[in-house]
Amino acid sequence: MRLELKGITKQFPGVLANDDVHLSVGEGEIVALLGENGAGKTTLMNILYGLYTPTSGEVLIDDEPLELHSPSDAIAAGIGMVHQHFMLVPVFTVAENVILGDEPAKRAGWLDKQRARKTVRDISSRYKLDVDPDAVIEDLPVGIQQRVEIIKVLEREARFVVFDEPTSVLTPTEVEGFFNIVNGLKNDGKGIIFISHKLGEALEIADRIVIMRRGRTVAEVLPADVDEEKLAELMVGRPVDLRVHKEEATPGDVVLSVEHLVVLDDRHQRAVDGLSLEVRAGEIVGIAGVQGNGQTELVESLTGMRPSLGGIVRLNGEDITTNSPRSIHKRNVAHVPEDRQKSGLVLSFTVTENIVLDSYYEAPVSRGILMNWSAAEERALRLVEEYDVRTPSVDVAVSTLSGGNQQKVIVAREFDRDVALVIASQPTRGIDVGSIEYIHSRIVEERDNNAAVLIVSSELDEITALSDRILVMYDGKIAGEFDPSASTTEIGLAMLGSQGEAGAM
Ligand SMILES: Nc1ncnc2c1ncn2[C@@H]1O[C@H](COP(=O)(O)OP(=O)(O)OP(=O)(O)O)[C@@H](O)[C@H]1O
Ligand SMILES: [Mg+2]
Repeated sequence: MRLELKGITKQFPGVLANDDVHLSVGEGEIVALLGENGAGKTTLMNILYGLYTPTSGEVLIDDEPLELHSPSDAIAAGIGMVHQHFMLVPVFTVAENVILGDEPAKRAGWLDKQRARKTVRDISSRYKLDVDPDAVIEDLPVGIQQRVEIIKVLEREARFVVFDEPTSVLTPTEVEGFFNIVNGLKNDGKGIIFISHKLGEALEIADRIVIMRRGRTVAEVLPADVDEEKLAELMVGRPVDLRVHKEEATPGDVVLSVEHLVVLDDRHQRAVDGLSLEVRAGEIVGIAGVQGNGQTELVESLTGMRPSLGGIVRLNGEDITTNSPRSIHKRNVAHVPEDRQKSGLVLSFTVTENIVLDSYYEAPVSRGILMNWSAAEERALRLVEEYDVRTPSVDVAVSTLSGGNQQKVIVAREFDRDVALVIASQPTRGIDVGSIEYIHSRIVEERDNNAAVLIVSSELDEITALSDRILVMYDGKIAGEFDPSASTTEIGLAMLGSQGEAGAM
């Protein structure tokens, strides 16, 4: 059995998102789909899943054209999709979430819940997913939530499964588990389309790699014939330097000082538990750690978005522990948040509006009580150019931009100011290799302009490449400090809470 996208073209206002794209996947095959931010990957998959109607072109299974007007048509044809933003109800159990999307007749009643629990158990053991049907979604780590999405797809008997950037939210261990699952699906005869910005992952898991650029499929290669450099070049259309270049740091005065900070998470547990750290002007401090060890709450607290229970945060000597986000922002603190859709952007606003989002009360964008729109637009146009944000204009809603381009809007806005302290969480999540190169160079530039930089990332590679000093966060505290030249095994062990003690895993 073969799924085929044939001559797909999709025209959005001002953007030709897909331009005569051809792609196919067979039974028991894993196809990796790579491409720059805005290349048209998600659009193509949304067409396959019945969310968008193509301007022209067809989707076929074994040469039979499909009528795809909605996701239920796609599901009926055996096509499943695991979205980048999970669509689970946090307060429901796994089993409840799995039956949620089914037709109403099947939904009601105790019996059906029993059946759903059994289904979850069966699928879970068949594909070694290790998911408890009675667990409540919000209590589960992201990696397990993703498995619930996979169970939903399998419960509907998908023969083809699309994963749109499934690994960007996973820890390295979770990625390993995910790959085992995907290989299990493959061995069971499923056809898989896998989208990722991590070239190494495509090389590891795919049988075939298809590369898109500016709406077109530009290359198709076998993993054995290429390496990461070659893939990057095929994607971006020029050689990409995958290493970070920087001089030795010359740290100055302490800019950020955190003493014995205590912060509670949403469930009133001590997510940050007496943490202390310092970041000096002109240095990049990277916080490594397995997600869920308090990094999110730490950053929210430092940026004024979450109150602390104890401890002191100082910025250039001034106590800012209880300051509001805006007052911290006004003290020249740039913040790239972890969840761009939740706290970085107003999705219904235009690109220009988002660029001036928190500077609208400052000159030159503001003139007293009036907005100076031409200055705002000028800034937006310049940043779109500098950061290579792919958008038809600065007047479209930011929600229409591709995921990676939304992230670039935030980074551009935050870095285009006089900055004393940069706090960046997962700054390159979902960003293509070409733009990662640029954003990393901008981060180093901020450092060289004497800013203090704090990077939080679950990508150990990113932390070791960028940082002048590495702190490992474990269980709400700093569990170790490392030089960037330290071995990743050593850092990895500290991330698991074992400071050199044997067998602590
Ligand atoms: N609903 C929409 N309305 C208008 N334009 C859109 C819409 N969805 C996508 N686009 C445009 O289509 C192009 C392709 O976007 P798409 O999301 O498919 O890219 P992508 O390859 O998935 O990128 P990324 O790696 O950043 O996720 C972009 O230029 C985007 O601005
Ligand atoms: Mg996308």
